[in-house]
Amino acid sequence: MKWSKKHLLSIEDLSVSEINTILDNAFSFKEVLLRPIKKVPALRGKTVVNLFFEPSTRTLVSFALAEKHLSADSVNISAKTSSVLKGETLLDTAKNIESMKTDMVVIRHASPGSAKFLAERIDSNVINAGDGIHEHPTQALLDLMTIKESLKKFKGLKILILGDIQHSRVARSLLWGFNKLGIETTLCAPPTLIPPFINNFKVNIEYDIDKAIKDKDVIYILRIQLERQKGGLFPSLREYVKYFSLTQERFDAIKRRSIIMHPGPINRGVEIDGSVADSSKSVILDQVTNGVAVRMSTLYLLNGGSNE
Ligand code: CP
Repeated sequence: MKWSKKHLLSIEDLSVSEINTILDNAFSFKEVLLRPIKKVPALRGKTVVNLFFEPSTRTLVSFALAEKHLSADSVNISAKTSSVLKGETLLDTAKNIESMKTDMVVIRHASPGSAKFLAERIDSNVINAGDGIHEHPTQALLDLMTIKESLKKFKGLKILILGDIQHSRVARSLLWGFNKLGIETTLCAPPTLIPPFINNFKVNIEYDIDKAIKDKDVIYILRIQLERQKGGLFPSLREYVKYFSLTQERFDAIKRRSIIMHPGPINRGVEIDGSVADSSKSVILDQVTNGVAVRMSTLYLLNGGSNE
């Protein structure tokens, strides 16, 4: 298909064929990643600014590497080193950066809707690298790529999302993606971490973790986001671990072993035992590798590439 979107703001915005186009191109770019010289000229002469107002390891490094592999020139800006600390608004920051003749902006920000806000006001292509608790579209795309790579299909799969759904932009993006692709999705978390927005989606809810994990193709685990919580959503981390952590003991009791996914960062011993995260069924580091390929694909398509 011919790509027509200028920005990547959410999975909600994408059609099934747009999702598949990003994934198809990502699989091609993964071949580039596996070469000794990981470089193609697709974005030569283009300038990309990575505007990260929240901490990041995976997403920032992944975008920065994707831009280098596509031969773009890129600059990273963080809140701590920008004039935002002196009171400059997000829009003023972005307009000043764009005045230096940039072509694309990748933004991570604590406010839901910040990527759309910029996309409506500046000329550059905008990519949402996580906007508060709203969406994290490239994370969901790299997760879909990893599922396709591991299990060879989407239709007929049963996926469990386990953990802090309430505060998770990853969960929102995944739910849009899984619903669009016809993947049967179950949620498991304390009732206080299952928010009303799930009524927009076709999902099952199971509060008993041992029942929830037993017949799934994928167990997708989410971190407890204490930094976004006001507290009081569950009695203590110890109690959370007792009822909702994917421990080695629980994992050993599953007859049909599912693959294990997590967007990172992992809190070992909280939402997942370290030994499960490191087990042969874990594809957590494959997710990270595929993140570079998905971001190469996204940058390439938004810049006018096509898979024709
Ligand atoms: N998965 C994810 O967004 O990780 P970072 O916060 O390290 O970018």
